[in-house]
Amino acid sequence: MKIIGIVGARPNFMKMAPIMRALAKSDFEAMLCHTGQHYDDNMSKVFFDDLELPRPDIFMGVGSGSHAKQTAKIMTEFEDIVLKEKPDLVMVVGDVNSTIACSLVCAKLMIPIAHVEAGLRSWDREMPEEINRMVTDILADLLFTTSAEAEPNLLREGVAAEKIHFTGNVMIDSLMFYLPKADRLTILDDLELKPQGYGLVTLHRPSNVDDPDTFRGILDALGEAGSRVPLIWPMHPRTRKMIESFGIDPKAMGLRPVEPLGYLEFMKLMKDSRLVMTDSGGIQEETTVLGIPCLTLRENTERPITCDIGTNTLVGVNPDNIRKTIIDTFEGEAQPWQAPPLWDGHAAERIVEVLKGWAK
Ligand code: UD1
Repeated sequence: MKIIGIVGARPNFMKMAPIMRALAKSDFEAMLCHTGQHYDDNMSKVFFDDLELPRPDIFMGVGSGSHAKQTAKIMTEFEDIVLKEKPDLVMVVGDVNSTIACSLVCAKLMIPIAHVEAGLRSWDREMPEEINRMVTDILADLLFTTSAEAEPNLLREGVAAEKIHFTGNVMIDSLMFYLPKADRLTILDDLELKPQGYGLVTLHRPSNVDDPDTFRGILDALGEAGSRVPLIWPMHPRTRKMIESFGIDPKAMGLRPVEPLGYLEFMKLMKDSRLVMTDSGGIQEETTVLGIPCLTLRENTERPITCDIGTNTLVGVNPDNIRKTIIDTFEGEAQPWQAPPLWDGHAAERIVEVLKGWAK
């Protein structure tokens, strides 16, 4: 039975790596297809190296574009691939444009789809990822969820209960598998940082970085943390473009921008940081398992469990709120936290077990 796994953008690689590893130990024939949505070496190649992902069997090289153009390009090329390869199942992860584009192609060709990380909802349709999540979930035949609240979200949208499988978090599979290796890196020394003596920042959401006033407001507020510890900021290409076009100087605002980091380097920096401030989705989950305070610079999260029992605080983008929460984080007591159920390093194995039952 042939399965094609799809990756396209940076957050897909660490989710697909443990699945490919688990599939390699099974009787399934697994192929990896990279759409090329992310194409810079530091957004893509370094992750293949760090995560020991097999070289893609198929590389589409679609690159950047508007949402419609990028999605359409992936669809056009992936249709030919599916017609040629005739997979028995296509596996998509997360919520990027590659996820929805490949799902749409398969749905029309009657090829079963498995969606890993199904049922997450921010309830904010201004986020392109929310549209991708909703459409992918309604099209999928097998829905693998990371936390219990995903199931009621899916049932409410009409997904049949028997399609939903609570298997845990594959992103945490990668974290646990690679943490010992990441821990041996010298990046703290290279950047002249001390454990717990710095903060880590990531920002790339269009809603935060595409509007100059919002963006400047956030950066101003981060200065509160910057006055206490150095702030390292691996900068996403979208963010770099915006910074340049707005003429913002992050160094003058107390931040230390660096190039986007590889998986292992970022993991190490996250694990030893005093706090993380981010608008990413996956980082909310990784910091929760690492026990590092995470301030999420967004008005909503599709990952509420990281706030309920993890280390995440939803701060929003109001500069005064950001400043206040930073002060509370530095001066308040550390809050108790725990890793959510099934975020234990074995999610991909459980997914493959479900696939074996489905294949019968
Ligand atoms: C995409 C995902 C988002 C994810 C993020 C992680 C969608 C809708 N969004 O957003 O969910 O959190 O990836 O990084 O799929 N660019 C480069 N080099 C690259 C990739 C992109 O320079 O290797 C530039 C592009 O030219 C573009 C911008 O970055 O202008 C945005 O890239 P795109 O893939 O469209 O979306 P992201 O914002 O990265």
